[in-house]
Amino acid sequence: MRLGSIILFVALCSFSAYYVYEPIPEDIDERWKLMMTNTFFRSLSHLADFSELLGLKDYMGVMYFITLIETIVPVSDEHVNVTVENFDGVEVVLYQPMQQSGNTELRRAVIYLHGGGWCLGSAYMSPYDLLARKVATELNAVVLSVEYRLAVAHHFPVPYEDVYRVVKSFLQMGVLAQYSVDPGRIAVSGDSAGGNLAAAVSQQLLKDPTQKVQLKAQALLYPVLQALDLNTPSYQQNQDMPILPRTLMVRFWSEYFTSDKAFFRAMMANAHNSLESSSLLKFVNWSAFLPEMYHRKYNYSVPAVLQGKAGQSFGTDGPSRSLADPRASPLLVPDAALHSLPKAYILTCEYDVLRDDGLMYVTRLRAAGVDVTHEHYDSGFHGSLMFTVWPMDFRIGHRMMDNYLKWLKENL
Ligand SMILES: *[C@@H]1O[C@H](CO)[C@@H](O)[C@H](O)[C@H]1NC(C)=O
Ligand SMILES: *[C@@H]1O[C@H](CO)[C@@H](O)[C@H](O)[C@H]1NC(C)=O
Ligand SMILES: *[C@@H]1O[C@H](CO)[C@@H](O)[C@H](O)[C@H]1NC(C)=O
Repeated sequence: MRLGSIILFVALCSFSAYYVYEPIPEDIDERWKLMMTNTFFRSLSHLADFSELLGLKDYMGVMYFITLIETIVPVSDEHVNVTVENFDGVEVVLYQPMQQSGNTELRRAVIYLHGGGWCLGSAYMSPYDLLARKVATELNAVVLSVEYRLAVAHHFPVPYEDVYRVVKSFLQMGVLAQYSVDPGRIAVSGDSAGGNLAAAVSQQLLKDPTQKVQLKAQALLYPVLQALDLNTPSYQQNQDMPILPRTLMVRFWSEYFTSDKAFFRAMMANAHNSLESSSLLKFVNWSAFLPEMYHRKYNYSVPAVLQGKAGQSFGTDGPSRSLADPRASPLLVPDAALHSLPKAYILTCEYDVLRDDGLMYVTRLRAAGVDVTHEHYDSGFHGSLMFTVWPMDFRIGHRMMDNYLKWLKENL
């Protein structure tokens, strides 16, 4: 055990020396800090690959360490009452602003979905706890931070369905009254994979004929919105960017659907579509939906359909069906399904493989008549908002948090 640790330590150090020199764009603020942070992420990723190769622990099992080191026990303070609740069988960390006695004013509510590629992350991580507290105190809002189940143990649609159950169960008049929440002022929000879940839930809730209370707003922070084309200009431009290189995002997508490595390889080659999903490519056509400045340097080519034996084995169900499912890829719906959506806040970062997912949704929602506030960070990198807690805090993370809170204050 001890020898093992020493070998690991030496391996990590030599990896680090090599990694630290990974080029990072000049215009990114606090570059050195980002290099160091990224060194940690990349070392862990290699360790995870190695561990999986040796059959010790699967890749995501090792990567989950990122979640564990930031896990805390959320506690109440003088401003916020924090409890762990259960909404229709799903665990939720609930933040309620302390109410002055005699104050019967109804409050706003935000249902928050953490990021982590559906495989990592937790409502119990300190940056999410900090964010939830800020939303609760600065907006006098009730915040539900959902601890949905994760892949690889639970593939799609389990994480999505957990979130949907919480939202349905919370949006009942009796439950809202119990928490003194105004039914007309509820938002859903999330970052990265959480933004994916938030966008999907907003769409599905509209289609639900039994649903009386609807959402007022959706706030999507560098969201993941489609799995059909993993070679958009932003995937190409940012394939080696810190925090979320293309390989890791492809890994998250494939693990969300299946642990079959053949599917991961097909996704890496951007040749994973089924006949069904390829008929939906028009909804994620970046040549049509990205502003000219983002696509002019790139030539559009249609993502390929998975051929041969692998194509057949995925052809009828499992990952291929999930691929065409808008609950996994919210961009895959026609304009008619978009136009009644709640107003949206969409944050995108220049140095992010997911930038174009967000940009395309901005274009498509606006074309469908939805009120969209788009905030683009020219020097932003994926996950910035997670870096708000010492020692991994970045000025850009704090700036994003402030702007996000400002939008919620004014629009919810
Ligand atoms: C905190 O919230 C819980 C659950 O809603 C409630 O039972 C408890 O009385 C609250 N505590 C305070 C101090 O408001
Ligand atoms: C994508 O859009 C371009 C026009 O910008 C068009 O020429 C092309 O046929 C479209 N492809 C698909 C698959 O929709
Ligand atoms: C795009 O296509 C043009 C014309 O075929 C070619 O000159 C150019 O190098 C291509 N650009 C990229 C980024 O592949």
